[in-house]
Amino acid sequence: MAKQTSANLEAIVGEIPGPRSRALAESLRAHESRGVTYLADDFPIFWESASGALVTDVDGNRYIDLTSAFGVATSGHTNPAVVAAIAAQAQALIHGLGDVHPSRMRVALLSALARLAPGPLEKCFLSSSGSEAVDFALKTAYLRTKKPGIVAFEGSYHGLASSALSVTGIERFRAPFKPFVSESVTFAPYPSASASAAQNDAARSLRTVESALAGGCAAVILEPIQGRAGVVVPPRGWLRGLRELCDRHGAVLIFDEIYTGFGRTGKMFACEHEGIHPDLLCVGKAIAGGIPFAATIGTRHVMDAWETSRGEAIYTSTYLGNPLACAAALANFEQLERGGLVARAATLGAQLGARLETFRKNPGVVDVRGRGLMWGLELSSAALAFSVTKAALRLGTIVLPSGVRGNAITLAPPAVIEEDQLWRALTLLERALAQAEVVA
Ligand SMILES: Cc1ncc(COP(=O)(O)O)c(C=O)c1O
Repeated sequence: MAKQTSANLEAIVGEIPGPRSRALAESLRAHESRGVTYLADDFPIFWESASGALVTDVDGNRYIDLTSAFGVATSGHTNPAVVAAIAAQAQALIHGLGDVHPSRMRVALLSALARLAPGPLEKCFLSSSGSEAVDFALKTAYLRTKKPGIVAFEGSYHGLASSALSVTGIERFRAPFKPFVSESVTFAPYPSASASAAQNDAARSLRTVESALAGGCAAVILEPIQGRAGVVVPPRGWLRGLRELCDRHGAVLIFDEIYTGFGRTGKMFACEHEGIHPDLLCVGKAIAGGIPFAATIGTRHVMDAWETSRGEAIYTSTYLGNPLACAAALANFEQLERGGLVARAATLGAQLGARLETFRKNPGVVDVRGRGLMWGLELSSAALAFSVTKAALRLGTIVLPSGVRGNAITLAPPAVIEEDQLWRALTLLERALAQAEVVA
């Protein structure tokens, strides 16, 4: 039975997934590598279109998206200004000649990134995925220090290509590929501000990092807030502690802000909450409003560890600085800045956090944590997290399971989400929790 809701809210018109989604699932099963998409009778739905914070599936069901599609759509799905910039650029130049003959858009984008980046970060390397941005950062740190040892953190997620996987601290991704993951990585504990002994955990973590640096590690890579781990926010002062340790030991500090960057946490970059900056900053996801794009931005000193190109770059890729992606990113930055979306992520995020706190009364909710428009609900089990995800979908809102053990749900709505959409989606999520609790 179709339920009437207002045109800016969810509208579930039939069974979830509907017949078209199910038919597409069969076709996908036949032709996509089977390790990619989880297919079951009740999951997934196939997306047809999206706008702002609304997603419509191939069966005509409309959902409120609390994921921004992995944190990408901060300025909204198919943001009209981004769409217009892509369309205009597509008429002029879709693809350029990478590292050989640069496009004008690439120069404009590089300057914009240098302006937006915190502190003295001013030189960039452009790529197409977060994994690549991380790979470039790790290679840069090695060229600068000539030492392969790296400190990374338990629960971290930096991508799945081999070098990013080497610093990813979630065992289920690493275990099948042991021969490809570097052994020169030391994993330190990532402290959580939610833990009862948060400050002790932070001190213990810093001691582990310090002894690794004293033992020869020369780079530290981390997410200022861990995303895939279920949104883990470290205690205040810990990032600054890492900055001080790296300064003392001459180590390169790398912040992976692929998830947290471009306003997600209520500042343009999460490290700005502590008034510090890394030596290298990896960005991606929300950079270009949905076009695949990423970058590594660094201080001149660290980035100049790369020799000047003599005609053949030793690190580049076919789509480096793709003009379409540059145009999309520039339009997206304007939306974030002129549209006040970063400030909106802070103010709306505070209200979202307060509303989520009330979820603690549900016995399945173990923890609520986050900042800006990036929140995690830790639940009592992975089974519960997945059944809440499915129940929420059936009710008309999209959330993502996350967490090192799969027992969390991440909420990262677009910063353009309308208030009635956000509160409606939370009502649906609360209902989903109540339904799933009964089933689990
Ligand atoms: C913090 C962080 N780093 C790196 C990545 C990898 O980015 P990509 O999937 O674009 O390779 C992700 C993706 O989720 C991420 O959240």
